[in-house]
Amino acid sequence: MYRVSLFLAAMIILSSCSSNGQKDISAEEKASMMLLGDSISTAMQNVLLQNVSAAIQKGGTDYAVEFCNIKAMPLTDSVGSLYKATVHRLSDKNRNPANAIQTATDSIAWQKIKNTKSATIEQDASGAVHYYKPILIAMPSCIKCHGTQTDILESTQKIIAQKYPNDKATGYRMGELRGMWSISWAKEK
Ligand code: HEC
Repeated sequence: MYRVSLFLAAMIILSSCSSNGQKDISAEEKASMMLLGDSISTAMQNVLLQNVSAAIQKGGTDYAVEFCNIKAMPLTDSVGSLYKATVHRLSDKNRNPANAIQTATDSIAWQKIKNTKSATIEQDASGAVHYYKPILIAMPSCIKCHGTQTDILESTQKIIAQKYPNDKATGYRMGELRGMWSISWAKEK
């Protein structure tokens, strides 16, 4: 048993060493990517929160859904390009079809996030590096658009159904895991 697992460990280590000439990231690089990923996602979260709160104040949750529908993706894209990274919010119960968990690396990260509820760094087969961090239903306002039927205004439910016919992002309670940030850096040339 012991021998088999040693053999397996060796195989894993060997196969992680650049079969396609890719450089594995060092512990130092990993640590700095953790810090960078954390600050980008925190900044992004603040930008989104400010925007959604302002939209709710202006026209209630009906208006804010329309606002998110138009603004959420361009906002995340623009903050990402500031940092030369690609920024996404992903979920297994996504509202926008573009926010589904798609790649094998996303799935590995999602599994870890579900188990540990903490951030992780993953490198994919192409050598690109991805930072992932959990997004929780941390504020009562989240429930107004992601809660159960009784939490969401009927008029808001209608707009959500109209803009997102395949919406899966309801039924959440306070404190639950809602999704994850994904911040990706392309492989250095
Ligand atoms: C005014 C309604 C509204 C509120 C309040 C709201 N959301 Fe959303 N949320 C949306 C809409 C609409 C989308 C889809 C945005 C898009 O098209 O990119 C979305 C998308 C998301 C996504 C991306 C994954 C997906 O399902 O597409 C996450 C994660 C998310 N919301 C988390 C939260 C959290 C956490 C809170 C509370 C801090 C919150 N939301 C508050 C309406 C809302």
